[in-house]
Amino acid sequence: MRYTQLARKVRHRVWPSRPWFATEDVEVGRNVRFGRNIRFDCRRVRIGNGCVFCDNVHIQATDFTIGNYASIYDSCLFPGPGSIEIGHNFWLGHRSMVDSAGGTAIGNNVGVGAQSQLWTHIQFGDTLSGCRFASHKPLLIGNDVWFVGHCLVSPITAGDRSMAMLGSTVIKDMAADRTYAGSPASDMTDRFGSQFTERALQSRVVDLNGRLDHLLPNPIERTQVRVVTDASDATVAEAGVLVLNVESRSYSDTNHPLELRVIRGLLPKAKFVPRLY
Ligand SMILES: CC(C)(COP(=O)(O)OP(=O)(O)OC[C@H]1O[C@@H](n2cnc3c(N)ncnc32)[C@H](O)[C@@H]1OP(=O)(O)O)[C@@H](O)C(=O)NCCC(=O)NCCS
Repeated sequence: MRYTQLARKVRHRVWPSRPWFATEDVEVGRNVRFGRNIRFDCRRVRIGNGCVFCDNVHIQATDFTIGNYASIYDSCLFPGPGSIEIGHNFWLGHRSMVDSAGGTAIGNNVGVGAQSQLWTHIQFGDTLSGCRFASHKPLLIGNDVWFVGHCLVSPITAGDRSMAMLGSTVIKDMAADRTYAGSPASDMTDRFGSQFTERALQSRVVDLNGRLDHLLPNPIERTQVRVVTDASDATVAEAGVLVLNVESRSYSDTNHPLELRVIRGLLPKAKFVPRLY
């Protein structure tokens, strides 16, 4: 899409202003909101549905892809050049940095607390005069990983559901379901436990229905959202019904009028990704 066309489209859905794109290769999903002074210094931009970019966000990644329902808070910086691919429901707190120079891949449902820095390169010293520190490495972050806040992260691999506590300096890979803390961060799962515990499906269904009742007090709207526990239920769902599958943590991506209110309204304490067909 040409940027002029996009700008015309975006003008109708921005809040309160529209971003600046260095490229015409831009695709923006439905119900995306942009704050003031947002710059995409990119060659290619792909943004999913329902994302929110607050004020003063600057993206220098050459190739920037982000899924549905991301929340990027004020004054975040994405240094580049490089490629960054981020899944659904990403949450990035105020004044954080996510580098892409070495290549960054982030899964679904990842949270990065305020003033964190995620790096993929080291570069500044005068290599002409012999500085030995100039390198790039990829940063690979799995699903449901949580850097609680003020974390400093080297180019590592973080396994699914791993977690780093406030102020951690993470310089080694994080194993799935392990919890880290300190500087340099060490595995403190024995002290804190894992981020997630087993929760019975039925208890999740009851909880989700309660949250939906609260979110949608209008009984007619409430009938348009259905909670299921297995994929076959989702496929037989009536047209016009937004189906949330608790087992797979997915929703039917039907362009349903309630999708924005429900999926965003449930965040951050219940996360659903679009169902794969
Ligand atoms: C610094 C860097 C290049 C080191 O990578 P590396 O050569 O693969 O070295 P390692 O990560 O294996 O670290 C070597 C050792 O130093 C330790 N170490 C590394 N960084 C450390 C830090 N910040 N604080 C304390 N110890 C640290 C490691 O624990 C390891 O110790 P060990 O040998 O006892 O296990 C890499 O971690 C990096 O790029 N970090 C981010 C750089 C950055 O901040 N960039 C900002 C923009 S310039």
